[in-house]
Formats: sequence, structure tokens, C-alpha cells
Amino acid sequence: MIGVFDSGLGGLSVLRAVRDLLPSHDLLYLADSAYCPYGPRPLAEVQARALTIGRWLVEQGAAVVVIACNTATSAAASLLRADLPVPVVGMEPGIKPAMLATRSGRVAVLATIGTLRGERFANLLDRFAGGAQVRTVACPDLVGYVEAGDLDGPEVRAAVAGYLVPLLADGVDSFVLGCTHFPFLRPLIADMVGPNATIIDTGPAVAAQVARVVATAGAGGGGTLRCVTTGDPTEVSPSLTRVWGEPLPISQLKL
Ligand code: DGL
Repeated sequence: MIGVFDSGLGGLSVLRAVRDLLPSHDLLYLADSAYCPYGPRPLAEVQARALTIGRWLVEQGAAVVVIACNTATSAAASLLRADLPVPVVGMEPGIKPAMLATRSGRVAVLATIGTLRGERFANLLDRFAGGAQVRTVACPDLVGYVEAGDLDGPEVRAAVAGYLVPLLADGVDSFVLGCTHFPFLRPLIADMVGPNATIIDTGPAVAAQVARVVATAGAGGGGTLRCVTTGDPTEVSPSLTRVWGEPLPISQLKL
């Protein structure tokens, strides 16, 4: 079984890519809705949540743990790799593909505060951002819209425009979705940036990495999908249906 977690519903964008690639593997998805959002939380708190969740997923039989959250990867990937007895796959904002795609030499990374202030992100910029102007944009409110299942209403449109319009005016032509919630806003973002800009989502690349890892870790199964939330399932369910595109059962987990 493959265990996947995020602060909330964002990681479903990664889960979908994993399921598309590995349809016959059992998947367990944990939405840590009671602690969402992670972005503004202190590092130690995100680390503690990630450890608790990672250990729980392993107890449930996960042969691989996927941190489907940039913020939690930034805070806790090294800790989880040292602590868990199974391989851990994490997320990373796609600076490298954005650098390859830009023609204007201006790239924007949309992410949480936690991801942007992390050491991992600084290292990523050092390694790959040479020669381009990289604008980092913390968009904490966008996570809330996705959690509320609002993917294209007037308020989320205005919020997205508030971030994108100044970036477009500055000549940015490559936009990195550095938070797993944001792929659910992709149609909205694509509409605003137009066909000449590139939008980078690392979900499919991470799914490909998961496929490489399971080939050796042996996480098989019959293609089941189980979802749990640390929040209230009746509150989470309508948004889950909206982002996933069809109803998906979700049960409560006290963790
Ligand atoms: N989905 C998350 C990420 O990729 C976290 C959003 C949040 O909880 O603030 O960063």
C-alpha cells in the first residue's frame, strides 16, 4: 500500500497522478484537516504532525510514504527519512522546469510561507535559478478557497488575479505551482496567464518517482482507495467531491 498525506485536500492532486500511473496499487490518503493550513504554522509543529502521520501510515501497512505537500516536505522530509523504515517521496517546487520554460527570464513561484522560508527552497534557488529573476509569492488564502471547494467563484478569481496581474505586468511567463492545492486552481490560473505562459505542476513527476520507488519497495494491492481526515468528514466531504470530481468516501481519524 502507498500512504499519501497533506494538510488537507491539496495532496489529492498528487494522489490522482499516482493513481493514474499505478491503478492497481492500494492507496491510503490522509487529509490532516484539523491542522490545515500548515503554511503559517511553526516549523516544529509541522514536523511533529508529519512524524505522527508518517508513523501512522507505516502502522497501517504503507510500503512507501508520499508527502503530498510542499510545506511538510520542506519542514520534515529529512526527519521522516531518518525515522521511517520505508522510502519517503516528497514534493519540491519545479524551479528547474520553470527555468527551462521561461523565455523572458522571469519566473514566479506560488507557494506557502512555510515553503518559501525553508532551507530546502533556498538550496533549490541556489542550484537552479541562476540567470533568471525568480519572484516568490506567498498565497496563503488560496489554500482556504480550495479547502472550501471554491475553485472558480468570484472571490477566488479576484484573489488569484491579485497575485497574477502584477506578475504578468512584470513579464513573468513561467508560473510554478509550489503548493499541492494550486493545481485545482489551474484552469483559473491558465485562463488568466494565457496560452503563452507555462504553468509547472510537479505532481506527475512525483508520481513517476513513486512508481520507480514502488517497483523495488513492493507496495502492491488491488487498486483500493481509502481516505481519512483528522477533521470533520461531513464538513470535508462536499469540498472533497468538488476537487476530486466525484464523491469519495472519507472517514474520521483521531490522530
Ligand atoms: N498543500 C500544501 C503545500 O503543498 C500545504 C498548504 C497548507 O496547508 O498551507 O504546501
